[in-house]
Order: sequence, then C-alpha cells, then structure tokens
Amino acid sequence: MALYLGMMSGTSMDAIDAALVDFDVAPLRIVASSATPFEPDLKQRVTALVDRWDHVCLDELGQLDVALAHAFAAASNELLRSAGIAPDAVTAIGSHGQTIRHRPDLPFPFTTQIGDPSTLTEATGITVVADFRRRDVAAGGQGAPLLPVFHDQVFRSDAEPRAIVNLGGIGNVTVLTRGSSVTGFDTGPGNRLLDAWIGRHRGLDYDQDGAWAASGTCDQALLEHLLDEPYLSLPPPKSTGRELFNLEWLDNKLGPSPRRPEDVQATLLEFTAASVADAVRRFAPGASLYVCGGGAHNQTLLRAIARRLAPQRVASTAVLGLDPDYVEAVAFAWFARRTLAGLTSSAGSVTGARGARILGGVYRHA
Ligand SMILES: Nc1ncnc2c1ncn2[C@@H]1O[C@H](COP(=O)(O)OP(=O)(O)OP(=O)(O)O)[C@@H](O)[C@H]1O
Ligand SMILES: [Mg+2]
Repeated sequence: MALYLGMMSGTSMDAIDAALVDFDVAPLRIVASSATPFEPDLKQRVTALVDRWDHVCLDELGQLDVALAHAFAAASNELLRSAGIAPDAVTAIGSHGQTIRHRPDLPFPFTTQIGDPSTLTEATGITVVADFRRRDVAAGGQGAPLLPVFHDQVFRSDAEPRAIVNLGGIGNVTVLTRGSSVTGFDTGPGNRLLDAWIGRHRGLDYDQDGAWAASGTCDQALLEHLLDEPYLSLPPPKSTGRELFNLEWLDNKLGPSPRRPEDVQATLLEFTAASVADAVRRFAPGASLYVCGGGAHNQTLLRAIARRLAPQRVASTAVLGLDPDYVEAVAFAWFARRTLAGLTSSAGSVTGARGARILGGVYRHA
C-alpha cells in the first residue's frame, strides 16, 4: 500500500486539514483524516502578518515559516499515531503551506506560501513535496486554482456535465463538460466576507449554517453594488484572495449609510451565492453542481445557490464519494504523488500558464 499524506491550511485559517490517502484502490481511499485547529496565538500572529503585509518584520516572517511547519508536523504525526501507521509507510507528504500573499497581477508576479518544508521533513521523518504554486506563476499562470486538474481526475463523468465549486475562504469553480479540457477560476468570495463580518459584529469565527444571515433581509441595492465589483466580470483565467475581498473592500462598498448588521450578512450571503451561480451559469450551463470546502456545510448558502440555478442539481461532493471537508487535502496528496512520479499536475487551460508543469519541490527524507 503506497500512502500519501496531503495537508492543507486555507485562507480561513480554521484548521490544518490532513488526509492520509491510499491511491492503490481506484480511484482512491481516505485511510484517515483530521482537522487540527490552529493554536490561537499562532493563528493571531499569521493573521497579523497577512493583514499588515506592508509592515512585515522579517524575523517574524522567518519565525512563522518554521513555527507553522512544526504545527503541520504535529498534525501529521498525531494523525499517523492515531491511525497506527508508521512514518516509513508514507511515501510523501504533499504540503500546500499557508498562503500569506498572492499577487499574480504585479509586474513580477508572485505567490507566497509558508511552512518550511525542510523543517516539516525533519520533524516527521517523511519526504515532503511543497511549493506547488510558484512554478505555474513562473510559467505565466495565476498559480491558482490548482484543484481543477484533480477534480478532472476524480469527478469527470461521461453521464453528465459537472461543475465543482470549492467554497473555502475564496470560491472557485471547476468546469467538467464533455469534449473540452478542464477549465476553472476563482469566482470571488467564498466564506471570507461572511466570516469577517460575523467576526466583527458577534466575535464568532463563522456563521453556523448561515443562521445569522437567514435572520436578516438581503438589501437589493447593496447587492447590486457589490456585484459591480470589476473582478467578477473579468474573463478567466483569473484568481483572487483576501488581498481584494476583505473588510476594507466591504467598508468602502457600504459607505456611511446605517444598516442592520444581519441584513449586511444576508446580503453578503446572496453576493457569494450570486457570484458562484453566475459563474456556473455562464461557463457550465446545464451542468450539475457539486460543492466542497467548508461552505458546503452552510445550508442557507447552498439553498441560495440552488435557488439561482434551479432546476440544475446542487449537492455536496459527498454524493460522489468524497468528503467535502477533505477534497483539498486529498488533492495535495495526489499532487505529491504526481510530482514524485515526474508527472505534471497543472493545466494552462485553467491558470493561463504556457503549459502543464511538474509542480513543487521535493525535500527528501532519505
Ligand atoms: N456549519 C457551517 N456553517 C457555515 N459555514 C461553515 C460551516 N462549517 C464550515 N463553514 C465555513 O467554512 C470555512 C472553512 O472552509 P475551508 O476549510 O474549506 O476554507 P479554507 O481553509 O479557507 O480553504 P481554502 O484554501 O479553500 O480557502 C469556515 O471559515 C466557515 O466559514
Ligand atoms: Mg480550512
């Protein structure tokens, strides 16, 4: 049994997701998985680094790079311990790292993930494959989204055209339609604005099941104003992040007029739903939609998307046999396996890069 361990910590910083995957069983089997919350102090320091990007202390950056690698290692070691699997049974860890800045739009395009792979190798005793995005950026691509190539591998069907939407901090769509190469792009916000707004007004990490949003009323004029955001009508390839969709962006859109916070939350939920549904309607008309990422648990959000796409089918990737919480972690296990096999795992049709590339660097344990 050749096992690979995929690790993902997304922009929401809700948890370090880890999935131990066996690819010898077609198409794959999740042997064990875990979501390890960040230690609050570490989360707060990384958040400060990301939000105060124009005041970064290099020592703090260096410290967090290594501290995160230790947090990833602790999550990985604990997963293996509880599953009763020895490190030498794992061929490699595919580690996404923590994105601290994503600027493929600058004259010298870049994307930066931290969580030092050398430290991770030393602290786990396992070969690490990491730094998956930068090669695609160097090849002229957005470096994001990476998931569509993996979705193509596991979710493409001859029976129906499909769209896969990952609702993490940012939303991204993968289009799997008959007879055409996989495409995909970031649709706009996923949970990012919903989390930020409830954090500011109620001190919560997220709006459980969208209940707070459901208690408010969507402000149609505000919704139209949010939908005017130019990013939404840019043609793909395109990617975005919390560099654009953040509280500062929202405050600018809100202006001085007084509003009930729950009405703003209701409007933000409709905004996310509309940006996702518009992308699916335009690029995958008639396709069934399968949702993964933490937003797949937000029933109010899923209902809002389904209402906009009716009568198209909207369901969780769970119905296709893959737990929506671990699609990304499994993808990074798959990317590690591809890279070690000398195979490409990106697509120019998705990111706009000059071609497919073998992604990431290999940090061999032995
Ligand atoms: N029961 C729930 N109700 C509402 N929202 C939920 C629920 N469970 C999770 N979420 C949302 O999902 C988010 C986490 O999703 P996920 O882990 O996919 O995002 P991420 O770590 O930012 O990843 P990405 O890299 O894809 O952006 C939480 O911050 C929260 O907003
Ligand atoms: Mg997460």
